[in-house]
Amino acid sequence: MVKLLGMSREDVREAIKNGDVTIAVYGLGKMGLPLAAVFADNGAKVIGVDINERVVNSVNNGENHIKEEPGLDELVKKNVEAGRLKATTDGILAAKKADVMIILVPTLADDRGNLKLESVYDVAEKISKGLEKGDIVITEATMPPGTTESLIPILEKSGLKLGDFGLAHAPERTMTGTAIRDITGQYPKIVGASDERTLEAVIGIYETINRKGVIPMSSIKAAEAVKVFEGIYRDVNIALANELALWCEEHGLDAIEIFNAANTQPYCHLHMPGAGVGGHCIPIYPWFVINLAKKTNVRLIRTAREINDSMPRHVVELTVRALNDAGKPMKGSKILVLGLTFRGGVKEFTKSPAIDVIRELKEWGAEVYAYDPLCTREDAERFGAKWKEDFKDVDAIVIVTDHREFKTLDLKEIAAEVRTKVIVDGRNVIHPEEAKKLGFIYKGVGRV
Ligand SMILES: NC(=O)c1ccc[n+]([C@@H]2O[C@H](COP(=O)([O-])OP(=O)(O)OC[C@H]3O[C@@H](n4cnc5c(N)ncnc54)[C@H](O)[C@@H]3O)[C@@H](O)[C@H]2O)c1
Repeated sequence: MVKLLGMSREDVREAIKNGDVTIAVYGLGKMGLPLAAVFADNGAKVIGVDINERVVNSVNNGENHIKEEPGLDELVKKNVEAGRLKATTDGILAAKKADVMIILVPTLADDRGNLKLESVYDVAEKISKGLEKGDIVITEATMPPGTTESLIPILEKSGLKLGDFGLAHAPERTMTGTAIRDITGQYPKIVGASDERTLEAVIGIYETINRKGVIPMSSIKAAEAVKVFEGIYRDVNIALANELALWCEEHGLDAIEIFNAANTQPYCHLHMPGAGVGGHCIPIYPWFVINLAKKTNVRLIRTAREINDSMPRHVVELTVRALNDAGKPMKGSKILVLGLTFRGGVKEFTKSPAIDVIRELKEWGAEVYAYDPLCTREDAERFGAKWKEDFKDVDAIVIVTDHREFKTLDLKEIAAEVRTKVIVDGRNVIHPEEAKKLGFIYKGVGRV
């Protein structure tokens, strides 16, 4: 055991590489397991803590349960076999053994960003029962600015005072599918800490695994704001793209053609318009800032949320119009929704636009079917659609998720199978001209 508080960043890096440092990672999910495996792969002794026994057992068997993460199978197996990565459900024992405790459990929020922080507080309680002088506690889970410091009274139940132990926030700046790449150096790590000694040690901790290095922030709160602001930037810019796309539709202009041309100018970064913004990050983080605003009006951030939330309805309206052009009423038409997950390649349904699209299509009286390469019949039924793996008798195809499989759809084959040739593209994955040549009535967000 080695206490990192008070050590230089160089000595910290050395100690981790030499296997002298034990790091406990709380939460072995999509973010926690890659982080735990990467630290172990760089020499640390890692104890992964999770309340889910199945997760703990599988990790201890050298198995990776986050299948969407390339390279994680090998990394988990290799480091479990080498004895550097172990898992447990005992968060107190892990805290007793560890020098550094990293909190990466879910911070679930409702649609208005009201957080359920129970799991974070639960972990902090457990850590407080094993906390020792010189330990460092780091939050990586995304939280509204101020949340990490709200853990101080819980951690001080240990009998120690902040300063005896260090506290820091180092936001996870990645997403499922690219976690290992991002953790190891796609972007620098952001770090804010309770004091200079903690900051120095935490810089050393993350320099060990991140080739791009560390950006030290002036405070924990500022570090928390970085991750939240990144998400808000995306939300507001997607809303701008969506608003301009709607304007283009009204004026018979192709938004994608215009955006591509405009983006050749280095100051312009117009995003992709689409069926809406889902997931537990981008649509939620704006609420962290809105809910904490006192005098600031935050009307741009609010409006962006409204615009993005209205996009699934717009996709349904495009479907109504397309069916209309084909001489079909929505009532009784068979609609096949392609995609249930909120984005391509990831099985995650939080705030997925597909949920709203299916609900609204049903309200119009349509017979709604769904298919998603990552999902099952039960998933479709959960959201009120029937499962369908072919295009037979379909009156309209509505693409809601940008799965790789939908980018290579054989429109010629589909044209021969459907009952009515209508395609609505909410993710710009289909070539409008190709669809039209095959006789489809095509509508897309922002497309002519
Ligand atoms: N998934 C992403 O793309 C992403 C990106 C950036 C940041 N984040 C943030 O990372 C954090 C973790 O997200 P995730 O996607 O890894 O979640 P996840 O749902 O994939 O995994 C969370 C894990 O934590 C475990 N857990 C829950 N409560 C616990 C407790 N009290 N003690 C110990 N373990 C507990 C669960 O059993 C689960 O295995 C969240 O705060 C999220 O905001 C996620």
